[in-house]
Amino acid sequence: MIDKELIGPPGSPERALLDRLDLGRMPRHVAVIMDGNGRWAKQRRLPRVEGHRAGIASVRATVETAARLHLDALTLYAFSTENWKRPHLEVATLMTLLKEYVRRELATLLANDIRFRVIGRIDQLDSSVRKALQEALDATAHCKGLVFNIALSYSGRAELADAARRIAEEVAAGTLRPEDVGEDTLASRLYTAGLPDPDLLVRTSGEVRISNFLLWQIAYAEIYFTNTLWPDFRAMDFLEAIADFQKRERRFGLVTEPEPAVHRT
Ligand code: IPE
Ligand code: IPE
Ligand code: MG
Repeated sequence: MIDKELIGPPGSPERALLDRLDLGRMPRHVAVIMDGNGRWAKQRRLPRVEGHRAGIASVRATVETAARLHLDALTLYAFSTENWKRPHLEVATLMTLLKEYVRRELATLLANDIRFRVIGRIDQLDSSVRKALQEALDATAHCKGLVFNIALSYSGRAELADAARRIAEEVAAGTLRPEDVGEDTLASRLYTAGLPDPDLLVRTSGEVRISNFLLWQIAYAEIYFTNTLWPDFRAMDFLEAIADFQKRERRFGLVTEPEPAVHRT
């Protein structure tokens, strides 16, 4: 049972919106492209890294809300393989913020039974970052609630290439037959193996593109774009995205209404 009090006390706008949601039709997995930190900082004449720092409060609010809504999984796009090409100072600051976040948040993740996971080319991360991530992975491995997935040094195309390479290796080793390679074979070799595909993909900051995120997994996701910049994103914005999701009719290629009878004269 969702404890609505935790998300919005009676009389709050969060509660009013929550009361309008159909709790029986919640997305199981929500993925978020957290964008707009640089623009948020620029609007305030601050260095870009201050936007990243401010974005941490949004991460905290989003993870907390996802857990309180009892979603199965939340995947946050924090750093793409392309983002390595940003100025050195910005990349270094992002990595420091990530380490700090993981260490500071561990107790909260455990208290909320949240299982931490990381997807992406983790081997490209600095060893001190990998160590901080590994500590959180190990400490939360037993947790049974929300799966909180963070995409780091992530590229959807690289993920598909990695899966293809693994399949090729198995075929070469004789443990997999080419005729047995199907959609499930590929899905089970992606970084997200075992997780349901996202039902809802949110992108902040007004950009209307996918930027190489979860290319395979979003085949039938509903996509929600908002102009809100990531550092301004809070529980209310998350609930608005879910309310919009619930207005959509998911068809998966089918027809949902019977054909009207054709009257021939
Ligand atoms: C998203 O914010 C964070 C990362 C991609 C790491 P940006 O840094 O892309 O912010 P904008 O798009 O420049 O405003
Ligand atoms: C996408 O944002 C990557 C993350 C949010 C981590 P970008 O800001 O890097 O994407 P583009 O450059 O606008 O496509
Ligand atoms: Mg951006």
